Amino acid sequence: MGMKKIFGMDRIQHELEIAMVPHKVVDEISANSQQYVEELAEFLRIPSVSTESEHAADIRHAAMWVAKKLGKLGFQAELHETARHPVVFGHLLVDASLPTLLIYGHYDVQPPDPLAEWITPPFSPSIREGYIYARGATDNKGQCLTYLMAMEALLSVTGRLPLNVKVLIEGEEEIGSPNLGQFLQKNRELLRTDVIAISDGSQFAPGIPAITYGLRGLCYLEIQIQGSNFDLHSGSFGGVVANPIQELIEMLSRLKNTDGIVAIPSFYDHVLELPPDERLEMSRLPVDEMQLKKYLGVEQLTGEPDYSIMERKTARPTLDINGIWGGFAGEGAKTIIPAKAGAKVSMRLVPNQRSSAINEQFKSFIRSIAPSTAKIQIAEMHGSDPVLIERNQPAMVAAAKAIEFGFDKKPVFIREGGSIPIVGLFKDVLDCGSILLLGWGSPDDGAHSPNERFSLEDFHRAICSVAALFYSLEECYRT
Ligand code: BES
Ligand code: ZN
Repeated sequence: MGMKKIFGMDRIQHELEIAMVPHKVVDEISANSQQYVEELAEFLRIPSVSTESEHAADIRHAAMWVAKKLGKLGFQAELHETARHPVVFGHLLVDASLPTLLIYGHYDVQPPDPLAEWITPPFSPSIREGYIYARGATDNKGQCLTYLMAMEALLSVTGRLPLNVKVLIEGEEEIGSPNLGQFLQKNRELLRTDVIAISDGSQFAPGIPAITYGLRGLCYLEIQIQGSNFDLHSGSFGGVVANPIQELIEMLSRLKNTDGIVAIPSFYDHVLELPPDERLEMSRLPVDEMQLKKYLGVEQLTGEPDYSIMERKTARPTLDINGIWGGFAGEGAKTIIPAKAGAKVSMRLVPNQRSSAINEQFKSFIRSIAPSTAKIQIAEMHGSDPVLIERNQPAMVAAAKAIEFGFDKKPVFIREGGSIPIVGLFKDVLDCGSILLLGWGSPDDGAHSPNERFSLEDFHRAICSVAALFYSLEECYRT
């Protein structure tokens, strides 16, 4: 079955641009597309939720699944234990004179709740109208597998890869990659590479592929306030005891103003303002505000008035309350003064903010505004730094060519609002600034949401793009 038949694309003109991708590789990918989907479904059936300790065996199962797949491709692959979930690392060294590509992804997934909102169960992959639905479909199992499938096709047609390849698939991305930094530090030599490819994000919009050159960083903290020893009768004690929920919300309300401007002193000190040419480029991206509001189910978008939607979503820092608890929220009414209250707060950071500094600023601001009655504890849950990747480098050109080959469209360059915690360390620890963030997903895939999905057409196009990337990278490092 030809590619054209499946997805109605005409490859001929692109064969000219990336002359080195053998026809047979594309035919092989098309011929095996059904099998790739079946393998993806098998991978998606493993509930590798990294946050929940009850899934430890599933996590290991997913890691072994990846290692086994790499083994079948001829990789020397093994599990490396960490303090929590294993890292899968494999390498296939073709020839010392060839450049090396390191592929990074994650086999862990977010918890699937709220379960009742899934049309089909999260770990029983289901195909409907060209999409595969399951937790992890787009984030990140489907996107990860595009690399393995492309290599399988290349190997079966040509017998060898055009590059040396290292594959690093971890199981802790969704919990902030707490142990991967140490793995990098310890294995610098093993991981040495010329270029890194990561597909753990999105295209700009359905049908508009993108290369991402910026990611936001993340600080995530939890605040707990302890009041009285236990919940009190609000009639007997109301009027003489501070209410921790009241104290908490007063503090939270001072973190950000209604225009979305964060009120923590020094928060913006190191924020790199967007240069005019980048603002102009961003303003040309076809943002459909009506469509976005409809998708989100909101009548108005909010945020910093002086910045566009794209700027606010990707290049400006934010602060959000993710959850809040305390007191009585059950059926009926219960007259108490609660003993405790708590909240989880996160901040997305942009270049050149540093998560360690922002965490400290947050804590000292909270302490400075806390009432004397409040016994407060603040815990840091995540910290990852923002990333900006040099766009003006040969690997970007190679990636753009490869995307155009697979998607039949030139990619746009975008920043993403999400975070991939390890990417900053790739730059610093591995000393590799050639990082290709090639999101194969779509913003409406529902990552982290119920009914997460991945387009099978994108899956297929991405596999073709990855095959092309091997050749275009080899070419760009050769010349
Ligand atoms: N795939 C996402 C990162 C992402 C999200 C990239 C949106 C581009 C657009 C990744 O799996 C993720 O969810 N990261 C977390 C990191 C956190 C748990 C430390 C995030 O951004 O919230
Ligand atoms: Zn995620």
